[in-house]
Formats: sequence, structure tokens, C-alpha cells
Amino acid sequence: MMTILGRAMGDRVDWQSGRMDGAGVQRSVKTVGELAGVFADEAARSGMDAARVVYAVEWTEPVAAGTEGGLFWGATRLEAGCVGDEYFMTRGHFHAVRDRGEFYGTVSGEGMLVLMEEDGATRVERMVPGSLHYIPGRVAHRTVNTGAEAMVFWACWPSDAGHDYAAIAARGFGLRVMRGDGSPRVVEA
Ligand code: PA5
Ligand code: NI
Repeated sequence: MMTILGRAMGDRVDWQSGRMDGAGVQRSVKTVGELAGVFADEAARSGMDAARVVYAVEWTEPVAAGTEGGLFWGATRLEAGCVGDEYFMTRGHFHAVRDRGEFYGTVSGEGMLVLMEEDGATRVERMVPGSLHYIPGRVAHRTVNTGAEAMVFWACWPSDAGHDYAAIAARGFGLRVMRGDGSPRVVEA
């Protein structure tokens, strides 16, 4: 039998920083100015520098979005900071194809993964370096940086999952993560 040396996809990852490079890598950045309505204290948010980056995502789509059976891979870098007393966080979403799951794996920083069922029941999981999180289908997910440094995590999700942000814009999550005395406070929204 001959051994054939195949070629990996050209995209590369830098594990620790979450940076990716290669022809297939896509990037998106969310600033304070783009996150209207996401944080509880809208007056505090609108008084901040609108250009300040809250999070950046880099990912690769080896097959077209919407393809059944494929996978996407990427990393989120969520900066440290607060809007009022609420820690910087992602918008959060259900998958548009509701039953699609996802993996998150934390590289650096510390925070929380907020998970909400379709009936609104919400829980949190601590994110620390090395923590691996399985997000089942039908569960909305948002990440919160409760530390003093950026939080970086890798994610892998199905290529046909899509993102439903509208459901979250309409009703939010059941819990919010706020700066407390010494440790974060998880409060009902
Ligand atoms: O696929 C995911 O769930 C992540 O890559 C998120 O899209 C990323 O963390 C940014 O969050 P959101 O899409 O909620 O703005
Ligand atoms: Ni997702």
C-alpha cells in the first residue's frame, strides 16, 4: 500500500491568541456603537466611545453556509470591560436551524457562558482556560468576560446552523452578569 501525503486546508490557527490567517478566513468586529439594546444600561452604552471594540470573531467556512453536514471553525476574542455595571458580552443567539449544537473551548481569560432554553430557562457555566462547553441544540448562547483580560475561545458549529439574533433582540436572556463586590453577580433579567 502506498502512503499518500495529503494537504491540509491552507487556513492556520494561532491557538493562544485565537488569530487565524489564510485565504478562507473571515472576520467580524462588534463595537460599543453596534450593540444598542444589548446591555441593560442603554444610557451608559450611548455615553461610551462608539468605536471601542467589544469582540472580534475570526472563522473559516470550508463549505458554503447552509450546507448540511459540514462544519465551521473559529475563535472569538471578547475584550474586558463593562457597560455600566454589566460585563462586556456577545449579542448571543439561537441557531436559525434550532436543533444544531456547538462546541466552545476556552483558551484564555475568564468569564461565563449564558445558556437559555426556548422556554426562557437560563443557566451559566464558568469559562476558564481549558474549559470545554457543549451547547446542545435549541439552546441560545452568549459569552460574558468577567475578567481583567480579554477572553479567547474556539468554537466549532454546523455549517447549516445559521444565527437567529432576532429572538434574543426581542426578549433577551433570562440572566445578566454584573460586576459585584469582589465577584460577579448573576441577576435575573
Ligand atoms: O458560533 C458562535 O456561536 C460564535 O462564534 C459566536 O458567533 C461569536 O462568539 C459571536 O457571538 P454572536 O454571534 O452572538 O454575536
Ligand atoms: Ni452559535
